[in-house]
Amino acid sequence: MSRLVVVSNRLADPRKPAAGGLAVALGESLQRTGGLWFGWSGNIADNTADGEGHLHTRSSGKVTLATVDLNQNDYETYYEGYANSVLWPVFHYRLDLADFNTRYLAGYRRVNQLFARKLKALLRDDDIIWVHDYHLIPLAAELRALGCRQRIGFFLHIPLPPALMLAAIPQHEWLMRSLFSYDLVGLQSEADVSHCIRYMTTEAGAELLADQRLRAHNATVQVRAFPIGIDVQEFRRLGQSQDALDTYESVRREYSRRQLLLGIDRLDYSKGIPQRVRAFSELLERYPDNEHSATLLMIASPSRDSVHAYADLRHELEGLCGAINGNFGDLDWMPVRYIHRTVARRRVPGLCRASRVGLVTPLRDGMNLVAKEYVVAQDPDDPGVLVLSRFAGAAEQLKDALLVNPYDTQGMAESIQAALHMPLEERQRRHRALLENITRFDVHWWRESFLAALGASSP
Ligand code: F6P
Repeated sequence: MSRLVVVSNRLADPRKPAAGGLAVALGESLQRTGGLWFGWSGNIADNTADGEGHLHTRSSGKVTLATVDLNQNDYETYYEGYANSVLWPVFHYRLDLADFNTRYLAGYRRVNQLFARKLKALLRDDDIIWVHDYHLIPLAAELRALGCRQRIGFFLHIPLPPALMLAAIPQHEWLMRSLFSYDLVGLQSEADVSHCIRYMTTEAGAELLADQRLRAHNATVQVRAFPIGIDVQEFRRLGQSQDALDTYESVRREYSRRQLLLGIDRLDYSKGIPQRVRAFSELLERYPDNEHSATLLMIASPSRDSVHAYADLRHELEGLCGAINGNFGDLDWMPVRYIHRTVARRRVPGLCRASRVGLVTPLRDGMNLVAKEYVVAQDPDDPGVLVLSRFAGAAEQLKDALLVNPYDTQGMAESIQAALHMPLEERQRRHRALLENITRFDVHWWRESFLAALGASSP
């Protein structure tokens, strides 16, 4: 059997809590198949005289982890720059936050070339290579340029925006052309697939063949949706851990006379966190029965805080939370509890289960796995309600959530009120339907269906 080689910018580090769905999903799914996981070490180091980052390898269960360090300049231009100040904002429909500094592209290309060189030395002829996310879009093109002939698939964990928005990236033609070096491109949703096909046929002159295959530049690539899922059994097991049970008990005790609403995100402008706080404020304003009762617990783990837009968001949020607590809070009740720290993953199921409402309200999101975890953590006899943004990729699958428009403050407040007062029978019915979908399309379905399609693609 071929060895699976996974490549991503960030790897799951068993010594640290994983931030973001990618590392969790890949970590869990690679433990099943075994293989090689290649990416950035997470370290910034002075590189050696030849300008190459050191390669470190170690084993974790059935997986060999191979990582390279980045130097300070590459970190700034590739990671903070092109990946997180160009591609991240544009792919999340935030052209206003993009910084098209010309230094960034050179760093992005340099690191993709570095990854290709280091990885090539580790490859076997019959490896199957699976590249992940926006940091590494041109990696297959760089590998091909070095003579690699293996099958290579790509999965984009974030949304793919409409063609005209992509066209705002000065190097969009080069970037999108590099997708033709892959045999298969996987996206999170059907909306993303339609954007990709439209871009390729209108901007890149590609021909659309059967089975969502696109032909241009003497190459054919198939583009399909593979919505990512969670490891349901693993998350359930986590929910039975002592930490999760203790967390559940202590939160229940503390909020026994209150209704808890929960949000767990990386502190990112795509997550719609200020919009959520405004909707919560509107809820308290419009429906005073929630005073002294509804409490919004928001856990926003620190993320990319050296990028300006993230620092700005942090200040905005601190101001908003302070204002709402000042306006509505009382001696024995603070409406918003905002925590800007990472909470241990093993406590997450307990927090979800203890909350009456899960608020997942991004302005745009590739999928959002917290939405799925919230549902799985619930007690089926007395489940909480998932309030989900229609702009999360998960909304294509989770139609039994209460779908909201996070830009509509009043509408979101009304939906939260409906969630807080939803009759038990409706909560149970929605929960059953959501759970069925999440269990069926779990992370193993995602991995197996992607790899089966990659195996079947013409090399
Ligand atoms: O899931 C999307 C994603 O951007 C991943 O690629 C990334 O690893 C994760 O979010 C967390 O972000 P970062 O790696 O920048 O800390």
